[in-house]
Amino acid sequence: MHITRNDPCWCGSGKKWKKCHYPKAPLTIDPLTLAKRYLKQYGIVLKTAPQIDKIRHICRITAGILDQLCQSARAGVTTLELDELSRKLHKEKGVIPAPLNYGYPPFPKTICTSLNEVICHGIPENRVLKDGDIMNIDVSCILDGYFGDCSRMVAIGEPPKESQLVMDVSKECLARAISVCKPGAFIWEIGQAIEDYATTKNCSVVNQFVGHGVGLAFHEPPEIPHHYNGIEIPMAPGMTFTIEPMINAGVRDAVIDSTDSWTARTKDGRASAQWEHTLVITETGSEILTHPPKR
Ligand code: MF3
Ligand code: CO
Repeated sequence: MHITRNDPCWCGSGKKWKKCHYPKAPLTIDPLTLAKRYLKQYGIVLKTAPQIDKIRHICRITAGILDQLCQSARAGVTTLELDELSRKLHKEKGVIPAPLNYGYPPFPKTICTSLNEVICHGIPENRVLKDGDIMNIDVSCILDGYFGDCSRMVAIGEPPKESQLVMDVSKECLARAISVCKPGAFIWEIGQAIEDYATTKNCSVVNQFVGHGVGLAFHEPPEIPHHYNGIEIPMAPGMTFTIEPMINAGVRDAVIDSTDSWTARTKDGRASAQWEHTLVITETGSEILTHPPKR
């Protein structure tokens, strides 16, 4: 549920939202009142500074694990071996892999490895990485009840032109989406930034999977669509969410594997790529939380 420009403003003034607190409202009311409104109106938890510190901490560990996994992704390595390394790294850092046993049927591994035409939720298996493959590695971790979530692409050797295109376009889509994030900007602006750019590159934007609030749970409100949409929720300081655009070379449609119920592939078998960060909205803009610690 969300209000639109012509609804009464939520400040109780009796004026239309567009004549009142639209769109800079989040900056003009005190944080506690704002947090209560976001929870009631959208189910969104605006995080406090100490909560953000905890989320930043797990996000950095998550990004560090992702970094190490990406470095180990070479021709000849299986995605199962990457999962084994992932288990070891999680154990070393004392963090829990969020995907393991998540959902229904329970996700069987600690990371997602999505190759070539796989859009997302690929399951590590006995598949050897070979020259020309592109792969998304998606890592999400839990520490003390706080969650971090990020993913990146790696190329094995020299990928085909179309694979390189979706890798580059999805990375740029994420960067452009992040740059629109600030207090008062609307959630729909993310999808607009992404789909505007992807279509100029003749790519399509997957609409069957979305980014999401994250931090106190793996998936929290709000949903963050990457395609054109009309979600008129203004961003507010303390919102923590992912942006994870999935960009296809061909059609946008995803088909979920009927055997494992997880692996999502492009309907036409053409390449797909995805990059993901967890962000927090600050007083002035946004901060990427899933930056790896310096090596
Ligand atoms: N970043 C992905 C997401 O938010 C991670 C999926 S893990 C899985 O959905 F276990 F759900 F597959
Ligand atoms: Co995610």
